[in-house]
Amino acid sequence: MREVRVLLNRKVAIGDTDPRLFGAFIEHLGRCVYGGIYEPDHPAADCHGFREDVLALVQELAPTIVRYPGGNFVSGYDWEDGVGPIASRPRRLDLAWLSTEINAFGTNEFIDWCRLARIEPMLAVNLGTRGADAARHLVEYCNHPAGTTLSDLRRSHGWDQPHGVKFWCLGNEMDGPWQMESKTATEYGRVATEAAKMMRWVDSSIELATCGSSGRNMPTFGSWEDTVLEHAFDHVEYISLHTYINNYAGDTAAFLASLDLMDRFIDEVVSIADAVAARRRSNKRIMLSFDEWNVWYRTRRTAEARTQPNWPVAPPILEEIYTMEDALAFGGMCISLLNHANRVKVGCLAQLVNVIAPIMTQTGGPAWRQTIFWPFSHFSNLGRGRVLQAQIDSPTYSATYFDPRGKQDLYFPVPQAPYLKLAAVHDERAGALTLFALNRNLTEEMPLRATAAGFSNLTVEQALQLQDADLKAVNTKAQPHRVKPRTLNRVRVEGGDVRAMLAPASWNVIRVKVS
Ligand code: AHR
Repeated sequence: MREVRVLLNRKVAIGDTDPRLFGAFIEHLGRCVYGGIYEPDHPAADCHGFREDVLALVQELAPTIVRYPGGNFVSGYDWEDGVGPIASRPRRLDLAWLSTEINAFGTNEFIDWCRLARIEPMLAVNLGTRGADAARHLVEYCNHPAGTTLSDLRRSHGWDQPHGVKFWCLGNEMDGPWQMESKTATEYGRVATEAAKMMRWVDSSIELATCGSSGRNMPTFGSWEDTVLEHAFDHVEYISLHTYINNYAGDTAAFLASLDLMDRFIDEVVSIADAVAARRRSNKRIMLSFDEWNVWYRTRRTAEARTQPNWPVAPPILEEIYTMEDALAFGGMCISLLNHANRVKVGCLAQLVNVIAPIMTQTGGPAWRQTIFWPFSHFSNLGRGRVLQAQIDSPTYSATYFDPRGKQDLYFPVPQAPYLKLAAVHDERAGALTLFALNRNLTEEMPLRATAAGFSNLTVEQALQLQDADLKAVNTKAQPHRVKPRTLNRVRVEGGDVRAMLAPASWNVIRVKVS
């Protein structure tokens, strides 16, 4: 392939990354909680029942904020079931995942786990089967210091100090017919507005995210955002987006091209939110909370892949085994998030453990890193700072991405996808410039040359590459290190430019010391 040129300028930035961009998600779903972060009988469990081996991997992964308790689960969840003495908590049918919820883990345990992991908690309220009243009560239970029945109930449960949860999601995917008590945009816009008002009256310091579309392929996408924000604009700070990309078609080039549709999705939601602002002559800018994103398809489309018969407790469902190819697509999603740092302020990798997750465990056994663990840990550990506008001169290709909705087959053309997908982050404090570079060419090496104006004394500090001749390679319990980053050797600074040779189908991270 011919040389691919990248031009950067220290003074030309997209925006600063918000710490919350590097978040994740824990749902009461399959073995994410039970057998994932929480397994009291496990040899590595601490006195709270939290798996320390999982916690160590979470800390290496370094998510900054975690969304809980769902997901689809939250739309049928009575938060009161998950507090108080564990022995007297009810067992319930969970209609989201056709499982039995034992409620041994609830809001307070989640907060404890977050504090232990030094992660900000994010809570979602049930605007499906419940509504504004239950939502304001949960805020009061969590955040009110003392002196009311609900805040004193929390204290009597053993949590004397308020949890101080700042970030709240107003329901989950309320546009989806699979959601318990899904709603029209008008119905949801009204309920979200009333819930937001009441929750904020309880605690004026909270931040609120309203539900956007559960995917760009939803028939209501666009009009949903517009209507919901017409109602809720003055009462929320964020609107959510969800995206799960797939390779159902077995077309790797199209799978990797679909990342550009994620960019488009973000741009479209920004346009709609700003159009609502314009109609009001408002200077307020609604920010984006990309609070579910990942690769997910093998365990998605059929009911058999998503559920098991007889209402099991914590069944092993949605345990997607990620390939090398998935890690490439996933890394590209990280790049899309970084390149919208000015508007996407929150991101939650869905999910954290076992369920479509970077960390896998065996119940009673070990924990290991899936392929997607690596790009996320690079993104989170090295992606903080100011994202620079990158001008990229790369050959392109065109593809058609298959993204079904239910039983309907939908196809989305992606014209002119540059083979190089890249984000550049300047960490002023660390004196470092990090390039995240995905070579989407499946057969050819890519000679890369990046010129970064306004920087001097460039020296390569770290250069990593995730690549495997077998795009279907996976990490397993038996072979947990089959796919892992290795040193990217052919990288140097020459004449002030960063030059590297990127292998075909590779994820690359180049960190350069700068002054
Ligand atoms: O993350 C798995 C599921 O995907 C979530 O419960 C739901 O919000 C989405 O459809």
